[in-house]
Amino acid sequence: MLAARWLFVLVFAVCSHKLCCGGPLHAQCKVEWYFGIPCRAVYESLVSQIKKWRSMSGCVAGGQRCLYKLQSASVHFISAKHTTPAKGSVDDINFRLVPFLFFSCCHVSAMSVSESWYAVRDHGTNYCNLYNLIEGSGLTESRGYREVTSEFFCTQRSSANCTIY
Ligand SMILES: *[C@@H]1O[C@H](CO)[C@@H](O)[C@H](O)[C@H]1NC(C)=O
Repeated sequence: MLAARWLFVLVFAVCSHKLCCGGPLHAQCKVEWYFGIPCRAVYESLVSQIKKWRSMSGCVAGGQRCLYKLQSASVHFISAKHTTPAKGSVDDINFRLVPFLFFSCCHVSAMSVSESWYAVRDHGTNYCNLYNLIEGSGLTESRGYREVTSEFFCTQRSSANCTIY
């Protein structure tokens, strides 16, 4: 009985620590991006970048800019998978595109989730899965570019080094 109580205390302590400090309980990342260009342009940039990084060739010198696979694409919703070259683990990514200001601007809600349920720490991989596409396609340089995320929404966001992960 005492053991059970201690177990409860231990589990509670671990969980509350994760909730307060470690970000999401499962390795994942949610980012909001804003662009001062139409969603059609954002959509075309993202889809062509995903296709460009399909093969392993982008990663021979290291990094994660390879092994993307487009699942489905419309101007409102893009879904893809990304495989980590070294470990072979798969992350599901998606982008929801919503126009605003009479279609002149685009709000993108992006999400990356590790398929393996036990992945808790990811070195920022889920963030980099998304950011590398935005950066690689040149969208970080586009008019009105703004990013909103945090450690709470993205596992290990603050320590993410997207050159490696
Ligand atoms: C990220 O990793 C690369 C390659 O190891 C390194 O050159 C760079 O300084 C790192 N960047 C940060 C911000 O730690």
